[in-house]
Amino acid sequence: MAKKNKFYLTTPIYYVNDKPHIGHAYTTILADVLARYHRSAGDEVFFLTGLDEHGQKVQQAAEKRGVPPQQHCDEMAPRFIELWQRLNIQYDDFVRTTQDRHKSVVQACLKMLFDKGEIYTSEYEGSYSVAEERFITETEVKSGQFRDVKTLKEKNYFFRMGKYQQQLIDYIEKNPEFILPETRRNEILGFLKQPLGDLCISRPKARLSWGIELPFDKDYVTYVWFDALVNYISIPGYTTDKEKFGHWWPADLHLIGKDILTTHAVYWSTMLFALGLPLPKTIFAHGWWLIGETKMSKSLGNVVNPLDLIDQYGVDAVRYYLMAEMVLGQDANFTPELFIRRYNNDLANDFGNLLNRMSGLITKHFEGSVPAAGQATEAEQEIMEYGQKLPSAVKANIDQMKVQTAVDEIMGIVRKVNAYVEKQAPWSEMKKGNKERAGTILYIATEALRIAAVLLQPIMPVKAVEVLDVLGAVDSKPQWGLLKSGTVLKSHSALFPRIEVK
Ligand code: ME8
Ligand code: MG
Repeated sequence: MAKKNKFYLTTPIYYVNDKPHIGHAYTTILADVLARYHRSAGDEVFFLTGLDEHGQKVQQAAEKRGVPPQQHCDEMAPRFIELWQRLNIQYDDFVRTTQDRHKSVVQACLKMLFDKGEIYTSEYEGSYSVAEERFITETEVKSGQFRDVKTLKEKNYFFRMGKYQQQLIDYIEKNPEFILPETRRNEILGFLKQPLGDLCISRPKARLSWGIELPFDKDYVTYVWFDALVNYISIPGYTTDKEKFGHWWPADLHLIGKDILTTHAVYWSTMLFALGLPLPKTIFAHGWWLIGETKMSKSLGNVVNPLDLIDQYGVDAVRYYLMAEMVLGQDANFTPELFIRRYNNDLANDFGNLLNRMSGLITKHFEGSVPAAGQATEAEQEIMEYGQKLPSAVKANIDQMKVQTAVDEIMGIVRKVNAYVEKQAPWSEMKKGNKERAGTILYIATEALRIAAVLLQPIMPVKAVEVLDVLGAVDSKPQWGLLKSGTVLKSHSALFPRIEVK
């Protein structure tokens, strides 16, 4: 038997300074959709997500609420976990950076790097961005893009990041799939034209106490990014489970938003160089969900709460909208109007309506059991060809991170079939006494619907199964012709009731 491909993918681990919004939900749903496609292709998947619980942002959020930071984290974590449950996210592990299994690995990494001379101590004075929680360069100060900048002077520990500059440039140039999309890769190559400094990886406890203590200096905690990034290797067992780690690492995909590209492409890569570990195959940075012209963000307070959307429109409509609307790599706009328009067009009028029509016509003319397909004309050939090519087209698009194109191709067969049924008018064939012809049309259309539902399952796991259940085809494969004639259709309610706009 062929060996299964392994597929290890991650999301960012989100800060617990506030509750999750649509932006966090987006990355996590996207990862879930990819994980489900890979599982359905027979791959062995490890999907890791979780929470980033240390650092200044979290400490400040806890202070603001007047609770100890660990308590704050323990109270925030369920907000994320419950949202992922509501969104049907099937992750394989969930990391919280305050867990011992993670902290001990961060300390092991720090100790190794310190012993190897990759970490040194020095007095440093520079501009510090409180919002970004890091020292920023003069160029960054001048850009004016940073809020809360102040001058700080203190003794700290530094990671010799700068010495890996050329190695990183060479690596990125030799591995075109390492940073995607290409615009982001060019952005990092541009960034690396400037001299790359060393990275301050400590914070004196006197200033910030909420973090992992340095194993070689108890007066300091670890800089939050040096802690958080390690989750990608601590959880699959780096330094603790050789076999597990050897199996999963390197990761196949780190999925992130473009806001955290530098930390992943530069900090993380050089950390891995220093540890002597291979780099992840791909870091993919998607764009932002915008509200009007600005990024949806906690600090700007313009967030859309995913729970409200789920309550109003159902979880699958939310998952579908996010996957269909954003062109991966570009920014996308979120408005209730766009959401409702797409829901009504794609889900109510196209997909839901096709199920309604098929079950209605089959019930009326064939006593509810799927008819057999007779002689195919050119019109049927066309649908069959589309349907036969569809699974591999979808797979190719998913593998290239073109999720919205995959969605569009699946919805393409739905639209095509709706037009086909309209044109072939099985009801008039019945009137003319051509029952076999009517049966052929209904079989072809229903089989196309089944294939669309199978392929939509990773995106809409609940509604797709509802459709397949009606067709007696739960767990079926997307290959053309597997719908069994004679299957008695189950009754169902409207899949996606139209949203009436007042
Ligand atoms: O940065 N549009 O956590 P974070 C699209 N803890 N995606 C968005 C978004 C938006 N408007 N807003 C947030 C951190 N996201 C660190 C990560 S990883 C080792 C540590 C998503 O809570 C997107 O994936 O600020 C972005 O990269 C992430 O949330 C940032 O989440
Ligand atoms: Mg952020």
